[in-house]
Amino acid sequence: MNPSSFLLFACGFICLAPLASAPARAQDAPPPWAYHITPDGSPPVPARTDDGSQRGVPDSEVRMTLTQTRDRFLASDWHPTSHPAMPEPVLHGRKPNTYACGLCHRAEGQGGPESANISGLGKDYILRQVQEMRSHARQTAVDQRLPIVVKSQVFNSVTDEELIEAAAYFSSLPARTYLKVVETDVVPKTAAYSNGFLVPAPEGGTEPLGQRIIEIPDDVNRFELRDSRAPITAFVPRGGVARGRALAESGGGAGVPCATCHGEGLKGGIGPRLAGQYATYVVRQLHDLKTGRRKGEQAGQMAATVEKLTLPDMIALAAYAASLSP
Ligand code: HEC
Ligand code: HEC
Repeated sequence: MNPSSFLLFACGFICLAPLASAPARAQDAPPPWAYHITPDGSPPVPARTDDGSQRGVPDSEVRMTLTQTRDRFLASDWHPTSHPAMPEPVLHGRKPNTYACGLCHRAEGQGGPESANISGLGKDYILRQVQEMRSHARQTAVDQRLPIVVKSQVFNSVTDEELIEAAAYFSSLPARTYLKVVETDVVPKTAAYSNGFLVPAPEGGTEPLGQRIIEIPDDVNRFELRDSRAPITAFVPRGGVARGRALAESGGGAGVPCATCHGEGLKGGIGPRLAGQYATYVVRQLHDLKTGRRKGEQAGQMAATVEKLTLPDMIALAAYAASLSP
C-alpha cells in the first residue's frame, strides 16, 4: 500500500473523530451536512468497484473506465473541444503528490459540493486562496475529510509557477454551474460515499430536511465519473431563497449589502463570485470565517458580516447565492 492510499484507508476510521469531541460553544460545532460527513459516525458507503467496462456521459464521445477516471494524475476530460487546453498542473499534476487540479475541480472548473466551483474566479483570488491554504492561514473545521486530506498533499508540493498556470486557466473559463436549488421539507436520507461526498443512502428512505442543506448529485454514477456537467441539486428549506435575498440586501447584522463587495447579482467584485456556488461550500466558508479558522489577507473584510450570522442565516444566504446564475 503506498502512503497516500494508506492515508485514504486510515481516513475511513478517523474522519469523523472531530465530531466526537464536544466543541467549546455549541454554535461553533461544524454542521456535518455542510462538510459532507454523516453525523452519527456511520461507516461510509464503499467506493464502487470497476468492472472494466468503458463508460460514457451525455453529450460526449469519450469513453473511459472507472479506474481511468480515478487516476489522480489525469483530469477526466469528457468535453475536450469546449475549453482551452489544460496546462500541465490542471491536466496531470506532478508525481508523487501534486495531483491534477482537474481531478477535483474538473476540466471545466465546476468541482463538486465537497470542493468548490472555481470556474471564472479571479486569477489573483485563486492564487491567494491556494497560498493561504498552503500557509494554513485558511483552515477548515473538518480537515480530516478525504478531499481536504488529499488537497493538502497537493498544496504542500505545488510550486508557485504551477499555481500561476492553474489559476490563469481556471480564471479564463466561463463561470458556469450545473447546480439547481429546490426548496423542500423532505429529502432523501444520505450517506457519505467513500468519505468524499454525500449520496442518497443505499437503503433508500426520506427524512425531514429541517434547518440543513442537502446537496447531492442527481446521478451519482455520472458525478463519480467526474463529468464537469453532472447535475447537482441543493435541497434547501422552504422560503430559504427569499429569506437569503432579503438578508443579502440588508447585509445581515453588519448592514452592508453583500453585493457591495461581491458585485451585482453576486457575480464577483472585490470579493469572489458567490452566484451559482455550491450551497454547502458557502455554509462551510461562512462557518470557517465566523469561527476564525479561515483567516488571511482579506478575510477580515468578512468579519463584520459573519459576526452575527446564525446557522439559519447562513443556510438562507447560501440558498440564495446558489440560486443565482453565475
Ligand atoms: C483532492 C482534491 C483537490 C485537488 C487535487 C485540488 N483541490 Fe482545490 N479544493 C479542494 C477542496 C475540497 C476545496 C474546498 C475547501 C473547503 O471546503 O474549505 C478546494 C478549494 C479550492 C479553492 C478555493 C475556492 C474559493 O472560492 O475560495 C481554490 C482557489 C482551489 N481549490 C484551487 C485549486 C488549484 C489551483 C488546484 C491545483 C493546484 C487544486 N485546487 C487542487 C479540493 C482539491
Ligand atoms: C466589505 C466587503 C464584503 C462584504 C460586505 C461581504 N463580503 Fe463576503 N467576502 C469579501 C472578501 C474580500 C472575501 C474574500 C476573503 C478572502 O480572501 O479570504 C469574501 C469572501 C466570502 C465568502 C467565501 C467565498 C469563497 O469563494 O470562498 C463567502 C461565502 C462570502 N464572502 C459571503 C458573503 C455574504 C453572504 C455577504 C453578505 C451577507 C458578504 N459576503 C458580504 C468581502 C465582503
